[in-house]
Amino acid sequence: MHESVLLTESIKYLNLNKKSIIVDCTLGYAGHSSNILKQIKEGYLYAFDQDQEAIKEADKKLKQIGTNYEIINTNFVNLKEEIKKRTDKVDGILFDLGVSSPQLDEDYRGFSFHKEAKLDMRMNQNQKLNAYDVVNNYSQEELIKIFKIYGEEKYANSIAKGIIKERNIKQIETTLELAEIIKENVPEKYRRKSHPARKIFQAIRIEVNDELNVFEKALKGALDIIKPGGRICVITFHSLEDKICKNIFNEVSKLPKELQNLPVIPDEYKPKFKIIANITPTKEEIEKNNRSRSARLRVIEREM
Ligand SMILES: C[S@@+](CC[C@H](N)C(=O)[O-])C[C@H]1O[C@@H](n2cnc3c(N)ncnc32)[C@H](O)[C@@H]1O
Repeated sequence: MHESVLLTESIKYLNLNKKSIIVDCTLGYAGHSSNILKQIKEGYLYAFDQDQEAIKEADKKLKQIGTNYEIINTNFVNLKEEIKKRTDKVDGILFDLGVSSPQLDEDYRGFSFHKEAKLDMRMNQNQKLNAYDVVNNYSQEELIKIFKIYGEEKYANSIAKGIIKERNIKQIETTLELAEIIKENVPEKYRRKSHPARKIFQAIRIEVNDELNVFEKALKGALDIIKPGGRICVITFHSLEDKICKNIFNEVSKLPKELQNLPVIPDEYKPKFKIIANITPTKEEIEKNNRSRSARLRVIEREM
């Protein structure tokens, strides 16, 4: 079961009315989308996902609520192009980034360092690059870079070295083999804090799915297809995702420094968006759902 994070808050900030046209970029198991569909009886929902299994389950749920929706089975990097084919502008766009709990829980998807599986981690099962390729074919320098940047892992060097040493003997095939190598290449004290494989698995997942580049491109596209008065809500789980969101939102909602002291701001330079919210889950939500502990919701509104 996937427990949606910041559900009430994100739905509230989408400012739905019964005629709203909404895009859910990360349908998953339709936690957010079901709520949205219930409120937009005369509107329309476009929902993206690239995971066939999530789509199948979500479709079953949405069917019971209404027929005014379309599931778009593609990477949300194509958001702007796909929406432009169907309509002009929309009233709300939601991103709830990362993986869903069922993706983590299904052993064979290879996302979890607790469960034995082939190294995979592809959200889109038709994609070529997978975690096996990253772990067995990337150079030591490339591994260090992704472990440091995407994993913010301070033992990136020794873990990458350990991987190279091991794969010179034999290819690393499974999640538990990799988790063991990671464990062996960090100091004893560090192993006790939290599982040392957590950050490395996250880094490999981000690389396999090119998550940061894809999100940046999609969010920029989202700014172009939102109606005046419409809102974009983004739930992130990683500091680098959040930084991308924060920077893009700041860029479009603040006056450039060199114009800040002008007595009159010409219309074409006035920011087109305003920031509405920047919140984290309540203590109660974190206690109930540990996955929400690193989440943040940012909301922006198009003004003109
Ligand atoms: C955190 S889950 C969303 C959960 C959903 N909001 C709910 O409440 O059930 C993220 C979902 O987005 C999908 N996803 C992540 N990145 C994607 C991308 N670039 N393109 C399309 N789908 C993506 C994943 O496959 C996953 O199903």
